[in-house]
Amino acid sequence: PIAVRVDDLLDRMTVEEKAGQMLQLDARGDLDDQVLRMHVGSILHASPERIVRAHELTARTRLRIPLLVGEDCIHGHSFWEGATIFPTQLGMAASWDPELLERVARATAVEVAATGVHWTFSPVLCIARDLRWGRVGETFGEDPYLIGELAASMVRGYQGDGLRDTTAVLATAKHFAGYSETQGGRDASEADISQRKLRSWFLPPFERAAREGCRTFMLGYQTIDGVPITTNSWLLNDVLRGEWGYTGTLVTDWDNVGRMVWEQRVQPTYAEAAAAAVKAGNDMVMSTPGFFDGALEAIRTGLLEETDLDAAVARILTVKFELGLFEQPRHPDRERIECVIGSTEHAALNLEVARRSLVLLHNDGVLPLAGGFIAGADGRAATDSRAPRRIAVVGPLADDAQTQLGDWAGGSGQAGWLDGQPGELITTVLDGLRAHVPVDWSITYAVGAEIVQLAPDPEGEFFPDGQPRPPVVVPCEPNEAQLAGAVAAARDADFVVAVVGDRIELVGEGRSTATLELLGGQITLLEAIAATRTPMIVVLLASKPLVLPSAVAEAAALLWVANPGMQGGRAIAELLLGLIEPSGRLPISFARHVGQQPTYYNQIRGQHGNRYADLTQQPAFAFGEGLSYTRVEYEGLLIADDRITTDGVLRARVTLRNTGRRPVRETVQAYVSDCVTSVSWAEQELKAFQQVDLGPSECKEAEIEISVGDLTIVAADGRRIVEPGQFELRVGPSSLAASQLRAVFTVCARST
Ligand code: IFM
Repeated sequence: PIAVRVDDLLDRMTVEEKAGQMLQLDARGDLDDQVLRMHVGSILHASPERIVRAHELTARTRLRIPLLVGEDCIHGHSFWEGATIFPTQLGMAASWDPELLERVARATAVEVAATGVHWTFSPVLCIARDLRWGRVGETFGEDPYLIGELAASMVRGYQGDGLRDTTAVLATAKHFAGYSETQGGRDASEADISQRKLRSWFLPPFERAAREGCRTFMLGYQTIDGVPITTNSWLLNDVLRGEWGYTGTLVTDWDNVGRMVWEQRVQPTYAEAAAAAVKAGNDMVMSTPGFFDGALEAIRTGLLEETDLDAAVARILTVKFELGLFEQPRHPDRERIECVIGSTEHAALNLEVARRSLVLLHNDGVLPLAGGFIAGADGRAATDSRAPRRIAVVGPLADDAQTQLGDWAGGSGQAGWLDGQPGELITTVLDGLRAHVPVDWSITYAVGAEIVQLAPDPEGEFFPDGQPRPPVVVPCEPNEAQLAGAVAAARDADFVVAVVGDRIELVGEGRSTATLELLGGQITLLEAIAATRTPMIVVLLASKPLVLPSAVAEAAALLWVANPGMQGGRAIAELLLGLIEPSGRLPISFARHVGQQPTYYNQIRGQHGNRYADLTQQPAFAFGEGLSYTRVEYEGLLIADDRITTDGVLRARVTLRNTGRRPVRETVQAYVSDCVTSVSWAEQELKAFQQVDLGPSECKEAEIEISVGDLTIVAADGRRIVEPGQFELRVGPSSLAASQLRAVFTVCARST
C-alpha cells in the first residue's frame, strides 16, 4: 500500500531531503543546484531538454525520488510548439457543456503527459466579479454552480481513469480561495471578504472539485483580513483538510513564502516565513529558493521540528506514488509526442469547442451573411441566389494570431520558454473568412487601427537598485492613414466585419486594466466605419467583457468570441456565414460602464437605492444571454409536486418550441429564488441547466431536477442550511428572461 511505502521512504530521508522535497523551482534556473544541493521535489516551466536533464540529475541523487513536472496547461499545452490551443476557459465556459470540457481536458492531458509533464495548474475556479481584473479570461465566469460543474468535468478529464494511466495528469483547483475578490480589479490585492462570504460564493466550486477527487490545490496571492493566504490555517486546515476531508497536495502560488518577507513584510526572515508556511499546512512551496535554507534554519533554531515537515512531504510522496512515478518516471516520449501533439483528432475537437464558445449578442437580421447554410465539399459556404458580396474585414485583431490564442499559450511573455505558436497553425478571422466565403465573394482587409505599443516606463529607465525597468504598454493614437484605408474598404463593401477587443499585452496575471474601453484607435475606427453606413458586424475578440461604445451598440450584429484558440477564425467565419448555428451563452455579465462594477447577476437582493443616479445598474448583457439564428419559446412550466421535504428532489417540466426554420441548441437554465431567508441572499441562483437540440419548428419537453439539499443559504453562523418555506423556480434562456416563467413550491422540514 502507498501509505507503507511513503512511511518507509520518509524514514530514510534526511532533513535536507525533506525540505527540498517541499520545493518546486523554476527549471530555467540552475538545475544542478536545484536537484543536487536542494533536492527539489518538483520543477515547473521546463523545456523538454530541461526535463530530461532534471531527470538525469535526479538519477544521481541518493534516494532517486522522482521529480514532479508541473506546467500551466490551462487551455491546451501552453508551452509546446504545435500543441493544440483551445479557447480560453471563459470562452469554453460559454459552451455551458461539461461533457465537452471533459473531452478538452482529456485531450490536453494526452498531449501534456506525452511531453513528460505530470501536473497541470488547471482549472481556475476563481469567481470573476470585477471585470478590470486581468485574469477574468482564465475563469469560468461569475456563477459558482456553473464553475463547479465545469471544473468537475475538467478534473475528470485531466485525471482520466486513474492517475496510474500514463495519459493522466494531476489537476489543480486554483486559486484557493477568494483571490479574484480584488480591490479595483488590481491583481493580488487584499481580498475584502468575510468567512461567511467565502462560504457563500467562493468556496463551493472548490468543494465540488475536492469531492471530484482533484489531487492538487493551489493558493492565490492575496491576503484576507491582514493574513496572507499562505498562512490562513482556517482555510487550509480547518476547511479544506478538516471539513472536506481533502487528502491531496497543496502548492503555494509563485514565491508566496518569499513575498511574506520582501513584499507583504509580515515575516522578518525566510526561516520565520518557512516555519509559518509549514505550520499553516502548505505542502509544496512554489518558486521560493530561500525556503530551503529558511526551513533548515527554522529547524536549527527550534521554530520547527523536523517532524513538522513530515505530513507535507508524505502528501507529496503520496501523489508521486499514485502517479506511479517510482516505477515509471514518465519522461518526454518522442513517439507519443509525434502522434498526439496537435493531432487531427484534437484539431477537430478544438474546432467543435471553438464553434460552441461563440456568443451572438445582437443581430438585426444581417446574419447569417450567406443565405444558405450548406457547405460545399471544400468547406465554403454555398453561393446563394443573391449577387456576389464584398466583405471588408477591418480591425487590429482580424489577423492577430497570438492574441486569438489568449494568455498561457506561449508568446505572451508569460513564464514560458516558448515564443508563441507558429502562425500557420492558427486560423485567424481573416483566414477563416477567406477560406469559407462563397467562391464568387470578395474580401478586402485593412487593419484600421492599432491597440497598444511598448514605450519606456515614464517612471524612469532604471529601478532604484540600478536594474533596467522593462517597457510599459501604452494605448496607440488613431492613425490617419490606417483609418482612411479601412473607411475606403468599408465604402466599397456590402458588409464590414470589424474585429476589435483587447490585445494579449492587456491580458493575464499582473495585467489588470483600469478601464474596460476598447483601447487605442479602435473606437475612432468603429465610429468612422459606422459613418459609412455599410452594415457593420462587430466581432469582439476580448478576453473578458468590455464596455461597448455606442458605435458597437448601433452595429448590425455583435459576436463575442473571447480568445477562441487556434481554430477560432474558422469557427467565427462559419458562424457569420451561417454554416453553423450560434449556441454560446454568457458565463459572465457585460457592464455598461466601468464604474458599474460589479455587475454579476446573483447579487444580494433588495439593497435600497441599488442603482446609480446617472445610470441603471442593469448590465449591458446579463449572465446566460446569447442568441441563436432562430427563437425558442418556453411555455407550460409544471412542477410535479409543489410540496417537497428538505431531502427531496424538485422535478419540473417545460415545453420548448423552435419558432424558426433553422435548428438550434438551446441551453435551458433553471434558477431558484428562496422567497424569504434569515439573512440577505441572492434574488436568484442558477441550480440546473441542460442543452436541448431542436430541429426546425420542433417542440420538445425539457425535464429539470434539482435536489432540495442544494437550495442552501449560508446562515449568520456560517452553516450551510436549507430553510423551509416558499421558493420560486424560474426557467428560461438567460438569468434575465428566466423570471418570465415561474412556479412556486414549498419546502417542508423532513418529518422525523
Ligand atoms: O499557475 C500559475 C498561477 O496561476 C499564477 N502564478 C504563477 C503560477 C505558475 O506559473
